[in-house]
Amino acid sequence: MAIQSTDSPGAGTDSLALARERLIVALDVPDAEAAVRLVQQLDDTCTWFKVGLELYVAAGPAIVEKIAGSGKNVFLDLKLHDIPNTVAGAVRSAAKLGARMLTLHASGGPAMLSAAKNEITGLSNPPELLAVTVLTSMDAGQLHATGVGRLPSSQVELLAKMGMEAGIRGFVCSPQEVAQLRALTGSEGVLVIPGIRPAGAAVGDQKRIAGPGEALRLGASYLVVGRPITQAPNPAEAAKEILGDIAKAS
Ligand code: C5P
Repeated sequence: MAIQSTDSPGAGTDSLALARERLIVALDVPDAEAAVRLVQQLDDTCTWFKVGLELYVAAGPAIVEKIAGSGKNVFLDLKLHDIPNTVAGAVRSAAKLGARMLTLHASGGPAMLSAAKNEITGLSNPPELLAVTVLTSMDAGQLHATGVGRLPSSQVELLAKMGMEAGIRGFVCSPQEVAQLRALTGSEGVLVIPGIRPAGAAVGDQKRIAGPGEALRLGASYLVVGRPITQAPNPAEAAKEILGDIAKAS
């Protein structure tokens, strides 16, 4: 199930080391300096970092190369959605940067998903393609406004099946959808779950949250955690607590 990271601990390592392979820290910061500071603060604690649109637009491909070049795993969360040829080119560029995971919108359609998948086929160390089904900010009303009459849960299922038919086994979804997608993908699925809040953490703007242990029990492969770590007075300590929860639940 888990992608082998560049610094995978392999067999026989303790549960904390394995937990480290499942925690992705969201670097939702405005510039490269803030991102590098966090990666350094978490250097001994975390192996996966998510670079999203805010940071990528500000700091560009160099920040991906810098983090990947320091031996960390980068999840490049760009949510690609364009014509197949353009998405294939973006996937090619992201793979060259050393990203280990990359998001794209399943709603781009089967041809776009297949073009993305074809682009990584045959690469020696390809990024895992993760399809985003329905954005967690979309409720039934928002979906209807875009001409989609289905409920979000059935649209999630339709898009996930479309992704699987194109050969995509990775999905980003909320804790609310993870059991549904695990049932659909079986053990092959790579399910990456944001909206994780350890006990006592501020919920912020997240609507559908789960604790680390609960998300893992529901079928998560990886947990994405941002503010509970990045805005903690001591990010490394906050990450260690979450790693402890993951280790207990794994
Ligand atoms: O700070 P927090 O833990 O809420 O950060 C969650 C991260 O996961 C953010 O980078 C957010 O953009 C991302 N994300 C999400 N919900 C999705 C997809 C991505 O919260 N459906």
